[in-house]
Formats: sequence, C-alpha cells, structure tokens
Amino acid sequence: KKYQKGVKHLCDNGLTKVPTKYIWPEPDRPIFTISDKLIKPKQNLKLPLIDFAELLGPNRPHVLRTIAEACKTYGFFQVGSQNPKLHEVISRFLAKQVSYGNGQVVNHGMEGDVSKNMIEVCKRFFELPYEERSKYMSSDMSAPVRYGTSFNQIKDNVFCWRDFLKLYAHPLPEYLPHWPSSPSDFRSLAATYAKETKEMFEMMVRAILESLEIDGGDEAAEELEEGSQVVVVNCYPPCPEPELTLGMPPHSDYGFLTLLLQDDVEGLQILYRDEWVTVDPIPGSFVVNVGDHLEIFSNGRYKSVLHRVLVNSTKPRISVASLHSFPLTSVVKPSPKLVDEHNPPQYMDTDFTTFLRYVSSREPKWKNFLESRK
Ligand code: SIN
Ligand code: FE2
Repeated sequence: KKYQKGVKHLCDNGLTKVPTKYIWPEPDRPIFTISDKLIKPKQNLKLPLIDFAELLGPNRPHVLRTIAEACKTYGFFQVGSQNPKLHEVISRFLAKQVSYGNGQVVNHGMEGDVSKNMIEVCKRFFELPYEERSKYMSSDMSAPVRYGTSFNQIKDNVFCWRDFLKLYAHPLPEYLPHWPSSPSDFRSLAATYAKETKEMFEMMVRAILESLEIDGGDEAAEELEEGSQVVVVNCYPPCPEPELTLGMPPHSDYGFLTLLLQDDVEGLQILYRDEWVTVDPIPGSFVVNVGDHLEIFSNGRYKSVLHRVLVNSTKPRISVASLHSFPLTSVVKPSPKLVDEHNPPQYMDTDFTTFLRYVSSREPKWKNFLESRK
C-alpha cells in the first residue's frame, strides 16, 4: 500500500511552497495580510482558568459556577497548573474518594513532570526517521495505534497540515503492547500520561455533573469511567505558506470531554460570537472542551463548540488531545435528570456507533448532524 508521507517528511526535505493537495478553498482559509502576519480580530482569548485544587476547599461552589459559565459561554475552559502540584492534588482528591468508599485505586507520589515528559517524548517520536514512524501507518480507523497525515488520506479531498499519532488508551493493558516501542521510553511516559489524564477526566466528570446539578454518584459517571479514551498526538511542522492551509479544519469533538495539552506555540482557535479567536496557550496547563456527547447529555446547556488549528511559518507545534467518551455500546441521550415538562429533550437518542460512522465519513461540518437530529 502506498501512503502519503505527511508534512513532517515534506518539511524535513525542505519545501518552499505548499503542495496543491494542502491548499484550502479560499473561504476556508485563515485571514493573513500580505506580509504573512495573521490579522488578529482581537487579543488572544484567555479562557477561564480553573484551579481544581480549589474544588477541595471552601471555594468549591464558586469553582463549579465558573465551570458551568465557561461550558455555556465558550464550550472551553483551561485547567491551570501554575500549581506545580496539580497531579499531587488530583491524587489526594482521588484518595479522598477512596476513603468515601467508591473503590478507586490510586497511584500516589506521582511526579509533576508527566505532561512535560509527554510533550517531550512526542517531539522525539516525530523526530524519528520516517521509516520508523511509518511502521504505524494504517488505513484502519480503529487500529489500536495509527500514524498518519491529515485525517483520513483515502477520503480527504484537501489535506491538513498535520501529522498525527493516534493511540487507543482504555483499557490500557489491552492497547499498550501495540504502542510505539521507539523512542524506548515512549510507552512508559505515554502510559503514565494516559493514566493521569484519565484520572483528571474522572475528576472533572464529577465536577461537571455537579455543576449541572446532577448528583456525583450518577450512573453516567460510572458509564464514562468505562468509556473510551483516545490519545491523539498532533504534529504541525512550520509551513511555508500558512495562509493557504489549515492544521485542522473546523470541527467539534464527538466525545464527552477533550483534555488538550499543547506546547507554548499558539494555533488553536475557537469560534466565539461568530469569530475565530486564538486561545492563548499556557504551557503545562490543559485546555478542556465540551464534546458532542456532553452537549447532548446536558440537553444543550453546555456547548460543543467548533474549533480549528492554524499553522505558522516559523515554529513547529505539538499538541496532545485526550478524547473521552461514553462506551461504544452506549446510547447517548439527554440526562433524564435534566428533562422534564418544562425542559423537553433537545436531541434524539443517538446510537454512538452510527454516530461514529457518520463522523468518520468526514462530512465537513458534521456538527450539522447533531442539529438535524434535534
Ligand atoms: C483539536 O484536537 O481539535 C485541537 C488540537 C490542537 O490544538 O492542536
Ligand atoms: Fe478537536
């Protein structure tokens, strides 16, 4: 089988023009001036910053209100880590859950470098020779590990300026043996990262259910714990003509929540009041966004917002998205606790498997699918 070698390969071979395959139709392109400077409609967006450590303290009700507001207004918030002990805090939080008797197994004493190590080992993965990376190329969308370019090189009409490594991550023991064995520390660092991210997700689910005024012990939380986790590493090499292409086209995420880790290079834009605004990256923090499952589950209270990625001509960018969703066997529907005679269901029940099939057909704005089902 003949695969496209991707944008990293193009860049490594020195390239001064964007190949036609990567040129987006004019209306979809980002707006740049002639001098290759991005026209910024406004200042970068500073997303509401949530300190989960505060969830444990007397400020909890306030933090929950901030989460609810952010999920309604932006569909996005940021989890701060000026607190270098974030991971310790999470461990302590989960330990507390144990003493409340919900049977969580907790890893204590984790280092705070987990996210830094993850970005760093992913950089090293993309620096491997093409032959090494290409071992993981596959046209099977549900392969436990899949390396590729754009999204689906068989189906994409226009390509994105993006190479990726997609890893299925839950249950970890099932998938880990398939993950790249090179760099030699990749598996152990990425596994730690996946585990900790999952713990963070579980902690956020409880907070989000509470912010929706659904009890913490809701069966949805347990269902989500058994749900799928997919870790997608994105690599956006510098692009000679960034005004002609996109790192990722506008899309919403299909899952419940996405936890995004990025390096210090900006690129992510979200649609806010009909304008594309760039999210200010805070290194080491997570950008968390509402996915389609959560929009449906919350009966439209929280929004799964369109976002896209721009590339630039000078700096490579790495991001790691951890997508968490209901199990494949779930029927996704508005929470019965949020539906009554005054609040009729805004969405039809959605069979996740059918939904995924639709998503992978790559209808450009498959968010329309949700709208059409209202
Ligand atoms: C996304 O996964 O939608 C965004 C990734 C990024 O910011 O690179
Ligand atoms: Fe996304």
